[in-house]
Amino acid sequence: MESVLIAKDLCKTFSNDRVQQHVLKNLNISIHPGDFAVIMGNSGSGKSTLLYALSGMDRPTLGSVGVNGEEISRYSNDKLAVFRRKNCGFVFQQNFLNDTMSVMDNIMVNGLLVSKDRRAIAERAKELLNRSGLTEEVYNKYPTQLSGGEAQRVALVRGIINNPTILFADEPTGALNSTNTANVLDILTGLNESGQTIIMVTHDMKAARRGNRVLYLKDGVILDEADLGNYVSEDENRHEKLRSFLIEMGW
Ligand SMILES: Nc1ncnc2c1ncn2[C@@H]1O[C@H](COP(=O)(O)OP(=O)(O)OP(=O)(O)O)[C@@H](O)[C@H]1O
Ligand SMILES: [Mg+2]
Repeated sequence: MESVLIAKDLCKTFSNDRVQQHVLKNLNISIHPGDFAVIMGNSGSGKSTLLYALSGMDRPTLGSVGVNGEEISRYSNDKLAVFRRKNCGFVFQQNFLNDTMSVMDNIMVNGLLVSKDRRAIAERAKELLNRSGLTEEVYNKYPTQLSGGEAQRVALVRGIINNPTILFADEPTGALNSTNTANVLDILTGLNESGQTIIMVTHDMKAARRGNRVLYLKDGVILDEADLGNYVSEDENRHEKLRSFLIEMGW
């Protein structure tokens, strides 16, 4: 099968004058279009480091990252920044919304990095907010006037406003209660069902279950992966398969 992202022999080493820490060690990964790939692993195993290397937010020490056949690891900083704006969406545990701007402006600012068509961006923003269960009432609110769940949904809309090739999510439900978690996961599942490729890091089995693939990071490499197939809710087999995979991985 073709790949949208291929990383080969990724190494990431953090050094200071006294010690070197080898976090990623010749790691290989391949993501297919339409994947909802979940990365799990212990705290400190390098999940965020991997996500940053794959998304061009940070550079690997060694190895290559190719997206749609383009070797982004060779890009200059400027070219990489342009590439990221167009092709990578991000959502994190914290929403990182700008408190001095309205909901709509937070989203528009990201859209305007890629396109000058204000109207088209605003239309897409409204449609995505709507799909996320956020009505017109929130458009002009400021982030501090939103609940945590609402704010995270706005951050998610901002992350996909430019129709990214890949949405990178680092513990997107990590700060949410269970209702809001389910809500955000439903939105991610919906996006994935309409073709959005997603790579998500999580500690949460409920979140991991949404993926069609769950990859386990240990000792700097992808130790193994579980192939869960497309998400079906209330599927006991799926839950069991994931549970036994994680036990096997020593999670
Ligand atoms: N910029 C950095 N400089 C030095 N060390 C770093 C840096 N970023 C990460 N590390 C180290 O690399 C290791 C992996 O960190 P990383 O944040 O990728 O882990 P993680 O799997 O995402 O953990 P968590 O589940 O707690 O978020 C950690 O030991 C961390 O201290
Ligand atoms: Mg992390």
